[in-house]
Amino acid sequence: MTYLFGLIGYPIKHSLSPWIHTQFMEKTNITGSYEIFEIDLNTDFKQAIAELRERNINGFNITVPYKEKIISELDSLDDQAKRIGAVNTVLNYKGQLIGYNTDGLGYVKSLEMAYPKIKTTDIKILLLGAGGAARGIYNGLKGSGYLNIDIANRTIEKAEEIKKTFTKGETKVMSLQAAEQVLDQYDLIVQTTSVGMKPNVAEEIVNLNKLKPNVIVSDIVYQPIMTQFLKSAQEKGAQIHTGHTMLLYQAQLAFNIWTETQVDVGNMDKKLEKILEG
Ligand code: ATR
Repeated sequence: MTYLFGLIGYPIKHSLSPWIHTQFMEKTNITGSYEIFEIDLNTDFKQAIAELRERNINGFNITVPYKEKIISELDSLDDQAKRIGAVNTVLNYKGQLIGYNTDGLGYVKSLEMAYPKIKTTDIKILLLGAGGAARGIYNGLKGSGYLNIDIANRTIEKAEEIKKTFTKGETKVMSLQAAEQVLDQYDLIVQTTSVGMKPNVAEEIVNLNKLKPNVIVSDIVYQPIMTQFLKSAQEKGAQIHTGHTMLLYQAQLAFNIWTETQVDVGNMDKKLEKILEG
C-alpha cells in the first residue's frame, strides 16, 4: 500500500515534518508521501478538511494556528487530546477521523531518551509558560507519572486553567518574578514559550541566577537550537535538553499511530541539528 500523509497549518512552507516523515518511511520500507497542505486564513477550513477526507489521506499533522480549530471537524478524540484540548495528529481509520496529541508524550520521550535516570527519581518540575505547548507537556508529564509539577506564567490565570486539567499530584502556580526566587527548588525547568526564538534570540524568559546543582534546563524552542536561555543555563553548570528532539519524538509517535510501526529515531537528532544550523 502507498500511504498519503501531510501537514496542515499556516505558514508551514519551511516545516521540517516532511523531512522527518520521509526518513521514517525510508527506515521502515513504507511507501508513501508526506505533503504540505498550507491553509491560509482566507480558505474555507471545513472544505479543506473535507478535501483531505476525499483524497483518502491516511493521516495528517496539525500545527499552528489550527490545533484547536480542527477538533470540530473530527469524528472522535483520544483521551490525551481531549484533556489537552488540542490535536496535532489525525488518523483516518476507515473513513473516521480520530484526533490525537503526541506533543506532550513526544516531549517526555525526548527528555527520557536524553536523561534515562530521570524516570526513576521523584523530581520536582517547573514549567515556564502556560500556552498550548505547556498544556501538552503538563499532561504528557503527569500522564507519565511525574506528579510534582508547578507552573509559572506571565498571566497567572492561564496557569490556573492548566492546573485544573489534571487533578492528580501537586501543582503550585506563580508569576515569572516569583519563580526566579525559587528556581533552586527544581530538578527540571522547562521553557515552553516562544521567548528566545529567532529573530528575538537575545530574550530570556527568566533570570537563571538561582539554580540547583545538577538541574536539567529544557527549552522547546529549536530555532536556534542553543537558545540564550540554554546558554545561560549551561554557563551556570546546568545540564541542558534541546527542543529539536521533541519535534522528532512527537513525529515518531504520530508515525506509529498511522502505520502501527515502531521507527527508531537513531541519529536523526544529529542530522536535524545540521539542517537547523544550516
Ligand atoms: P503556544 O501554543 O505556542 O504555547 P500560546 O498558547 O500563544 O502559544 O502561549 C504562549 C505562551 O508564551 C504563554 O504562556 C504566554 O504568556 P501569557 O499567558 O502571559 O500571554 C507566553 N509568552 C509569550 N510571550 C512572552 C513574553 N514576552 N514573556 C513572557 N511570556 C510570554
